[in-house]
Amino acid sequence: AHQWRGVIREYADRLPVTESTRVITLGEGGTPLVHAQKLSELTGSTVYLKVEGMNPTGSFKDRGMTMAMTAAVQAGAKAVVCASTGNTSASAAAYATSAGLACAVLVPEGKIAMGKLSQAIAHGATLLQVDGNFDDCLEIARKLSDSYPVFLVNSVNPARIQGQKTAAFEIVDALGDAPDIHVLPVGNAGNISAYWKGYKEYATETTYSFGADGEDSQDGAEHDAAQERTLPAVSTKLPVMWGFQAAGAAPFVAGHPITHPETIATAIRIGNPASWDTAVAARDESGGLIDAVTDGEILAAHRWLSAKEGVFVEPGSAASVAGLIKMHEGGRVPTGKTIVCTVTGHGLKDPQWALRTADGGEVVPVKVSNDVVSVADALGLESGA
Ligand code: F0G
Repeated sequence: AHQWRGVIREYADRLPVTESTRVITLGEGGTPLVHAQKLSELTGSTVYLKVEGMNPTGSFKDRGMTMAMTAAVQAGAKAVVCASTGNTSASAAAYATSAGLACAVLVPEGKIAMGKLSQAIAHGATLLQVDGNFDDCLEIARKLSDSYPVFLVNSVNPARIQGQKTAAFEIVDALGDAPDIHVLPVGNAGNISAYWKGYKEYATETTYSFGADGEDSQDGAEHDAAQERTLPAVSTKLPVMWGFQAAGAAPFVAGHPITHPETIATAIRIGNPASWDTAVAARDESGGLIDAVTDGEILAAHRWLSAKEGVFVEPGSAASVAGLIKMHEGGRVPTGKTIVCTVTGHGLKDPQWALRTADGGEVVPVKVSNDVVSVADALGLESGA
Protein backbone atom coordinates (compact mmCIF):
# COMPACT_ATOMS: atom_id res chain seq x y z
CA ALA A 1 0.00 0.00 0.00
CA HIS A 2 1.30 3.43 -0.91
CA GLN A 3 1.38 6.03 1.80
CA TRP A 4 1.82 9.64 0.59
CA ARG A 5 5.15 10.83 1.96
CA GLY A 6 4.75 14.61 1.82
CA VAL A 7 5.74 16.91 -1.04
CA ILE A 8 9.50 16.88 -0.42
CA ARG A 9 9.86 13.12 -0.64
CA GLU A 10 7.31 12.79 -3.46
CA TYR A 11 9.06 15.43 -5.57
CA ALA A 12 12.60 15.26 -4.15
CA ASP A 13 14.26 15.30 -7.57
CA ARG A 14 12.71 18.70 -8.35
CA LEU A 15 13.40 20.34 -4.99
CA PRO A 16 16.52 21.72 -3.27
CA VAL A 17 17.12 18.70 -1.03
CA THR A 18 19.57 15.79 -0.98
CA GLU A 19 19.52 12.26 0.43
CA SER A 20 20.97 13.54 3.69
CA THR A 21 18.53 16.43 4.21
CA ARG A 22 16.55 16.21 7.45
CA VAL A 23 13.03 16.59 6.10
CA ILE A 24 10.46 18.36 8.27
CA THR A 25 7.07 17.12 7.12
CA LEU A 26 3.54 16.54 8.37
CA GLY A 27 2.54 14.63 5.24
CA GLU A 28 1.34 17.69 3.30
CA GLY A 29 0.21 17.63 -0.34
CA GLY A 30 -1.50 14.82 -2.20
CA THR A 31 -4.71 16.83 -1.92
CA PRO A 32 -7.90 15.90 -3.80
CA LEU A 33 -8.65 17.23 -7.26
CA VAL A 34 -12.43 17.19 -7.07
CA HIS A 35 -14.64 17.31 -10.15
CA ALA A 36 -16.96 20.29 -9.61
CA GLN A 37 -20.19 19.06 -11.17
CA LYS A 38 -22.25 22.22 -10.92
CA LEU A 39 -19.48 24.56 -12.03
CA SER A 40 -18.87 22.25 -14.98
CA GLU A 41 -22.58 22.36 -15.86
CA LEU A 42 -22.60 26.15 -15.50
CA THR A 43 -19.59 26.80 -17.71
CA GLY A 44 -19.66 23.94 -20.20
CA SER A 45 -16.03 23.23 -19.37
CA THR A 46 -14.70 20.51 -17.07
CA VAL A 47 -13.99 22.26 -13.79
CA TYR A 48 -11.93 20.76 -10.97
CA LEU A 49 -11.25 22.06 -7.48
CA LYS A 50 -7.78 21.56 -6.01
CA VAL A 51 -8.87 21.25 -2.39
CA GLU A 52 -5.93 22.61 -0.43
CA GLY A 53 -7.90 22.72 2.80
CA MET A 54 -7.06 19.02 3.05
CA ASN A 55 -3.46 19.78 3.99
CA PRO A 56 -2.36 19.01 7.58
CA THR A 57 -3.04 22.50 8.95
CA GLY A 58 -5.91 23.16 6.57
CA SER A 59 -4.28 25.33 3.89
CA PHE A 60 -1.83 25.27 0.98
CA LYS A 61 0.77 26.98 3.16
CA ASP A 62 1.94 23.56 4.37
CA ARG A 63 3.51 22.83 0.97
CA GLY A 64 5.80 25.80 1.34
CA MET A 65 6.29 25.39 5.06
CA THR A 66 7.72 21.86 4.80
CA MET A 67 10.46 23.32 2.57
CA ALA A 68 10.96 26.52 4.60
CA MET A 69 11.22 24.64 7.89
CA THR A 70 13.54 22.06 6.34
CA ALA A 71 15.71 24.96 5.14
CA ALA A 72 15.57 26.58 8.59
CA VAL A 73 16.83 23.39 10.24
CA GLN A 74 19.52 23.03 7.59
CA ALA A 75 20.64 26.61 8.26
CA GLY A 76 20.93 25.82 11.96
CA ALA A 77 18.16 28.21 12.95
CA LYS A 78 16.80 28.10 16.48
CA ALA A 79 13.76 30.28 15.86
CA VAL A 80 11.54 31.22 12.93
CA VAL A 81 9.32 34.23 12.34
CA CYS A 82 6.53 35.08 9.94
CA ALA A 83 3.94 37.73 9.24
CA SER A 84 0.53 36.33 8.48
CA THR A 85 -3.13 36.88 7.75
CA GLY A 86 -3.55 33.60 9.66
CA ASN A 87 -2.82 30.51 7.61
CA THR A 88 0.93 30.98 7.37
CA SER A 89 1.06 31.44 11.15
CA ALA A 90 -0.91 28.23 11.74
CA SER A 91 1.35 26.33 9.36
CA ALA A 92 4.60 27.84 10.68
CA ALA A 93 3.57 27.06 14.25
CA ALA A 94 2.82 23.41 13.46
CA TYR A 95 5.95 22.78 11.39
CA ALA A 96 8.18 24.62 13.91
CA THR A 97 6.82 22.31 16.59
CA SER A 98 7.68 19.31 14.45
CA ALA A 99 11.17 20.72 13.81
CA GLY A 100 11.74 21.60 17.46
CA LEU A 101 12.15 25.31 16.72
CA ALA A 102 10.71 28.32 18.47
CA CYS A 103 8.17 30.25 16.40
CA ALA A 104 7.04 33.86 16.50
CA VAL A 105 4.14 35.10 14.41
CA LEU A 106 3.03 38.66 13.67
CA VAL A 107 -0.62 39.09 12.77
CA PRO A 108 -2.82 42.14 12.14
CA GLU A 109 -4.78 42.79 15.31
CA GLY A 110 -8.41 41.65 15.14
CA LYS A 111 -8.14 40.66 11.47
CA ILE A 112 -7.39 36.96 11.54
CA ALA A 113 -9.95 34.17 11.72
CA MET A 114 -10.45 32.40 15.05
CA GLY A 115 -9.51 28.95 13.74
CA LYS A 116 -6.12 30.19 12.58
CA LEU A 117 -5.44 32.10 15.78
CA SER A 118 -6.31 28.95 17.75
CA GLN A 119 -3.94 26.81 15.69
CA ALA A 120 -0.96 29.14 16.20
CA ILE A 121 -1.62 29.24 19.95
CA ALA A 122 -2.24 25.49 20.20
CA HIS A 123 1.08 24.72 18.52
CA GLY A 124 2.87 26.95 20.99
CA ALA A 125 3.88 29.87 18.81
CA THR A 126 4.45 33.27 20.35
CA LEU A 127 1.68 35.24 18.68
CA LEU A 128 1.92 39.02 18.58
CA GLN A 129 -1.01 41.08 17.35
CA VAL A 130 0.37 44.12 15.60
CA ASP A 131 -1.51 47.39 15.47
CA GLY A 132 -1.31 47.44 11.67
CA ASN A 133 -2.16 45.36 8.62
CA PHE A 134 -0.41 42.36 7.03
CA ASP A 135 1.91 44.56 4.99
CA ASP A 136 3.11 46.26 8.19
CA CYS A 137 3.63 42.85 9.83
CA LEU A 138 5.69 41.60 6.88
CA GLU A 139 7.90 44.67 6.93
CA ILE A 140 8.63 44.12 10.63
CA ALA A 141 9.24 40.38 10.13
CA ARG A 142 11.73 41.09 7.34
CA LYS A 143 13.58 43.69 9.41
CA LEU A 144 13.56 41.38 12.43
CA SER A 145 15.13 38.53 10.47
CA ASP A 146 17.70 40.92 8.99
CA SER A 147 18.94 42.11 12.38
CA TYR A 148 18.11 39.34 14.85
CA PRO A 149 18.74 35.57 14.97
CA VAL A 150 15.37 34.50 13.56
CA PHE A 151 14.74 32.72 10.24
CA LEU A 152 12.03 34.20 8.00
CA VAL A 153 9.47 31.67 6.70
CA ASN A 154 7.26 34.00 4.65
CA SER A 155 7.02 33.37 0.90
CA VAL A 156 9.76 35.96 0.28
CA ASN A 157 11.89 32.98 1.32
CA PRO A 158 12.44 31.11 -2.00
CA ALA A 159 12.12 27.73 -0.23
CA ARG A 160 8.42 28.48 0.25
CA ILE A 161 7.83 28.93 -3.48
CA GLN A 162 9.80 25.74 -4.20
CA GLY A 163 7.44 23.77 -1.96
CA GLN A 164 4.28 25.41 -3.25
CA LYS A 165 5.10 24.68 -6.90
CA THR A 166 4.35 20.99 -6.16
CA ALA A 167 0.61 21.71 -6.35
CA ALA A 168 1.02 22.29 -10.10
CA PHE A 169 2.94 19.01 -10.39
CA GLU A 170 0.14 17.12 -8.64
CA ILE A 171 -2.48 18.58 -10.98
CA VAL A 172 -0.55 17.57 -14.09
CA ASP A 173 0.12 14.14 -12.59
CA ALA A 174 -3.62 13.72 -11.93
CA LEU A 175 -4.94 15.05 -15.26
CA GLY A 176 -2.18 13.75 -17.52
CA ASP A 177 -1.48 17.28 -18.73
CA ALA A 178 -1.79 20.87 -17.58
CA PRO A 179 -5.30 22.36 -17.52
CA ASP A 180 -6.23 25.02 -20.07
CA ILE A 181 -6.99 27.57 -17.38
CA HIS A 182 -5.86 27.73 -13.76
CA VAL A 183 -7.76 30.03 -11.40
CA LEU A 184 -6.63 31.08 -7.95
CA PRO A 185 -6.99 33.71 -5.24
CA VAL A 186 -4.20 36.29 -5.03
CA GLY A 187 -3.02 37.96 -1.83
CA ASN A 188 0.70 38.28 -1.24
CA ALA A 189 1.05 36.63 -4.68
CA GLY A 190 3.42 33.83 -3.70
CA ASN A 191 1.05 31.09 -4.73
CA ILE A 192 0.30 32.26 -8.29
CA SER A 193 4.08 32.65 -8.72
CA ALA A 194 4.69 29.14 -7.38
CA TYR A 195 2.06 27.48 -9.60
CA TRP A 196 3.45 29.19 -12.68
CA LYS A 197 6.96 28.05 -11.76
CA GLY A 198 5.71 24.48 -11.30
CA TYR A 199 3.78 24.44 -14.58
CA LYS A 200 6.77 25.82 -16.47
CA GLU A 201 9.16 23.26 -14.97
CA TYR A 202 6.82 20.43 -15.96
CA ALA A 203 6.29 21.74 -19.50
CA THR A 204 9.91 21.53 -20.58
CA GLU A 205 13.05 19.53 -19.95
CA THR A 206 14.42 21.15 -16.80
CA THR A 207 17.88 21.05 -15.28
CA TYR A 208 17.75 21.48 -11.54
CA SER A 209 20.84 23.00 -10.04
CA PHE A 210 20.42 24.34 -6.56
CA GLY A 211 22.81 26.57 -4.64
CA ALA A 212 23.68 25.88 -1.02
CA ASP A 213 20.92 28.28 0.02
CA GLY A 214 18.35 26.29 -1.93
CA GLU A 215 17.95 28.94 -4.60
CA ASP A 216 17.99 28.02 -8.25
CA SER A 217 21.44 28.85 -9.56
CA GLN A 218 20.79 29.57 -13.20
CA ASP A 219 24.42 30.08 -14.12
CA GLY A 220 25.49 27.02 -12.19
CA ALA A 221 28.22 29.11 -10.61
CA GLU A 222 27.71 27.97 -7.08
CA HIS A 223 26.27 24.51 -7.16
CA ASP A 224 27.16 21.06 -6.03
CA ALA A 225 27.55 18.99 -9.20
CA ALA A 226 26.09 15.97 -7.43
CA GLN A 227 22.86 17.92 -7.02
CA GLU A 228 22.39 18.71 -10.69
CA ARG A 229 19.76 16.70 -12.50
CA THR A 230 17.97 17.03 -15.81
CA LEU A 231 14.39 15.79 -16.02
CA PRO A 232 12.17 15.42 -19.08
CA ALA A 233 9.02 17.41 -19.78
CA VAL A 234 5.89 15.94 -18.21
CA SER A 235 3.18 18.13 -19.77
CA THR A 236 2.62 19.33 -23.32
CA LYS A 237 1.15 22.74 -22.56
CA LEU A 238 0.91 25.61 -20.09
CA PRO A 239 -2.30 26.92 -18.56
CA VAL A 240 -3.58 30.45 -18.77
CA MET A 241 -3.36 31.87 -15.23
CA TRP A 242 -6.34 33.76 -13.83
CA GLY A 243 -5.86 35.41 -10.45
CA PHE A 244 -8.54 37.10 -8.37
CA GLN A 245 -8.14 39.61 -5.59
CA ALA A 246 -10.76 41.00 -3.24
CA ALA A 247 -12.04 44.31 -4.64
CA GLY A 248 -11.03 46.25 -1.52
CA ALA A 249 -7.54 44.75 -1.62
CA ALA A 250 -6.70 44.63 -5.32
CA PRO A 251 -3.29 46.25 -5.90
CA PHE A 252 -2.69 44.34 -9.16
CA VAL A 253 -5.91 45.72 -10.57
CA ALA A 254 -5.04 49.22 -9.39
CA GLY A 255 -1.48 48.83 -10.68
CA HIS A 256 0.02 50.03 -7.41
CA PRO A 257 0.01 49.11 -3.69
CA ILE A 258 -3.15 49.82 -1.66
CA THR A 259 -2.50 51.55 1.67
CA HIS A 260 -5.65 50.43 3.49
CA PRO A 261 -6.79 47.07 2.09
CA GLU A 262 -10.24 45.92 3.25
CA THR A 263 -12.21 42.73 2.70
CA ILE A 264 -14.13 40.17 4.75
CA ALA A 265 -11.77 37.60 3.16
CA THR A 266 -9.07 38.33 5.76
CA ALA A 267 -6.68 35.74 4.24
CA ILE A 268 -6.17 38.01 1.22
CA ARG A 269 -6.47 41.39 2.97
CA ILE A 270 -3.12 42.51 1.55
CA GLY A 271 -2.25 45.80 -0.13
CA ASN A 272 1.43 45.45 -1.00
CA PRO A 273 2.14 41.94 -2.35
CA ALA A 274 5.73 40.79 -1.86
CA SER A 275 5.82 38.63 -5.02
CA TRP A 276 4.69 41.46 -7.31
CA ASP A 277 7.01 40.91 -10.27
CA THR A 278 6.68 37.12 -10.41
CA ALA A 279 2.89 37.36 -10.24
CA VAL A 280 2.81 39.89 -13.07
CA ALA A 281 5.11 37.57 -15.04
CA ALA A 282 2.77 34.61 -14.41
CA ARG A 283 -0.16 36.69 -15.63
CA ASP A 284 1.56 38.07 -18.72
CA GLU A 285 3.64 35.08 -19.83
CA SER A 286 0.54 32.85 -19.61
CA GLY A 287 -1.69 35.34 -21.42
CA GLY A 288 -3.85 35.50 -18.30
CA LEU A 289 -5.29 38.17 -16.05
CA ILE A 290 -5.57 39.35 -12.46
CA ASP A 291 -8.98 40.83 -11.71
CA ALA A 292 -11.04 41.63 -8.62
CA VAL A 293 -14.20 40.18 -7.10
CA THR A 294 -16.39 41.91 -4.52
CA ASP A 295 -16.97 40.55 -1.02
CA GLY A 296 -20.53 39.79 -2.12
CA GLU A 297 -19.26 37.72 -5.04
CA ILE A 298 -16.81 35.95 -2.73
CA LEU A 299 -19.58 35.02 -0.28
CA ALA A 300 -21.85 33.87 -3.11
CA ALA A 301 -19.06 31.58 -4.39
CA HIS A 302 -18.44 30.37 -0.82
CA ARG A 303 -22.13 29.44 -0.62
CA TRP A 304 -22.04 27.82 -4.08
CA LEU A 305 -19.12 25.59 -3.09
CA SER A 306 -20.77 24.49 0.17
CA ALA A 307 -24.31 24.08 -1.10
CA LYS A 308 -23.76 22.80 -4.65
CA GLU A 309 -20.37 21.06 -4.70
CA GLY A 310 -20.07 19.78 -1.11
CA VAL A 311 -16.76 21.55 -0.56
CA PHE A 312 -16.37 23.82 2.49
CA VAL A 313 -13.76 26.54 2.11
CA GLU A 314 -12.83 29.76 3.84
CA PRO A 315 -13.96 32.99 2.14
CA GLY A 316 -10.52 33.92 0.75
CA SER A 317 -10.40 30.57 -1.04
CA ALA A 318 -13.71 31.24 -2.74
CA ALA A 319 -12.20 34.19 -4.62
CA SER A 320 -11.01 31.79 -7.34
CA VAL A 321 -14.48 30.38 -7.90
CA ALA A 322 -16.04 33.85 -7.59
CA GLY A 323 -13.70 34.90 -10.37
CA LEU A 324 -14.64 31.94 -12.56
CA ILE A 325 -18.35 32.70 -12.10
CA LYS A 326 -17.75 36.38 -12.85
CA MET A 327 -15.83 35.50 -16.01
CA HIS A 328 -18.59 33.11 -17.04
CA GLU A 329 -21.21 35.82 -16.56
CA GLY A 330 -19.09 38.09 -18.71
CA GLY A 331 -19.07 35.43 -21.45
CA ARG A 332 -15.33 34.94 -21.08
CA VAL A 333 -15.12 31.26 -20.07
CA PRO A 334 -14.57 29.00 -23.09
CA THR A 335 -16.51 25.73 -23.28
CA GLY A 336 -15.01 22.27 -23.69
CA LYS A 337 -11.84 23.15 -21.79
CA THR A 338 -10.26 21.86 -18.57
CA ILE A 339 -10.23 24.38 -15.76
CA VAL A 340 -8.75 24.01 -12.28
CA CYS A 341 -9.70 26.34 -9.43
CA THR A 342 -7.49 26.18 -6.37
CA VAL A 343 -9.47 26.53 -3.15
CA THR A 344 -6.72 27.42 -0.72
CA GLY A 345 -8.04 26.92 2.83
CA HIS A 346 -10.57 24.90 4.82
CA GLY A 347 -13.99 26.24 5.74
CA LEU A 348 -13.48 25.34 9.39
CA LYS A 349 -10.80 28.03 9.63
CA ASP A 350 -13.43 30.74 9.52
CA PRO A 351 -16.82 29.02 9.89
CA GLN A 352 -18.95 32.03 10.86
CA TRP A 353 -19.72 32.89 7.22
CA ALA A 354 -21.76 29.73 6.75
CA LEU A 355 -24.21 30.99 9.38
CA ARG A 356 -25.22 34.00 7.32
CA THR A 357 -28.02 34.01 4.79
CA ALA A 358 -27.54 35.47 1.32
CA ASP A 359 -29.13 38.75 2.45
CA GLY A 360 -26.92 39.02 5.53
CA GLY A 361 -29.35 37.57 8.09
CA GLU A 362 -28.37 35.09 10.78
CA VAL A 363 -29.06 31.36 10.39
CA VAL A 364 -30.59 29.97 13.58
CA PRO A 365 -30.80 26.16 13.81
CA VAL A 366 -34.35 24.86 14.43
CA LYS A 367 -35.07 23.53 17.95
CA VAL A 368 -37.28 20.49 18.48
CA SER A 369 -38.58 18.50 21.44
CA ASN A 370 -36.86 15.30 22.46
CA ASP A 371 -39.15 12.87 20.56
CA VAL A 372 -39.39 11.30 17.12
CA VAL A 373 -42.75 12.80 16.16
CA SER A 374 -41.47 16.35 16.71
CA VAL A 375 -38.41 15.58 14.62
CA ALA A 376 -40.53 14.00 11.85
CA ASP A 377 -42.87 17.03 11.90
CA ALA A 378 -39.95 19.43 11.73
CA LEU A 379 -38.62 17.49 8.72
CA GLY A 380 -42.05 17.50 7.03
CA LEU A 381 -42.17 13.70 6.98
CA GLU A 382 -45.42 11.72 6.88
CA SER A 383 -45.55 8.33 8.58
CA GLY A 384 -45.16 5.73 5.79
CA ALA A 385 -44.78 2.44 7.67
N1 F0G B 1 -5.97 31.89 0.24
C1 F0G B 1 -5.70 31.73 1.54
C2 F0G B 1 -6.62 30.88 2.34
C3 F0G B 1 -4.58 32.36 2.12
O1 F0G B 1 -4.35 32.19 3.41
C4 F0G B 1 -3.76 33.17 1.31
C5 F0G B 1 -2.60 33.85 1.87
C6 F0G B 1 -4.08 33.29 -0.04
C7 F0G B 1 -5.18 32.63 -0.55
C8 F0G B 1 -3.28 34.09 -0.99
O2 F0G B 1 -2.10 33.45 -1.32
O3 F0G B 1 -0.55 35.22 -0.57
O4 F0G B 1 0.24 33.36 -1.99
O5 F0G B 1 -1.24 35.12 -2.93
N2 F0G B 1 -2.36 33.89 3.10
C9 F0G B 1 -1.11 34.42 3.69
C10 F0G B 1 -1.07 34.11 5.16
C11 F0G B 1 -0.83 35.81 3.35
O6 F0G B 1 -0.42 34.85 5.93
O7 F0G B 1 -1.63 33.10 5.59
P1 F0G B 1 -0.83 34.33 -1.74
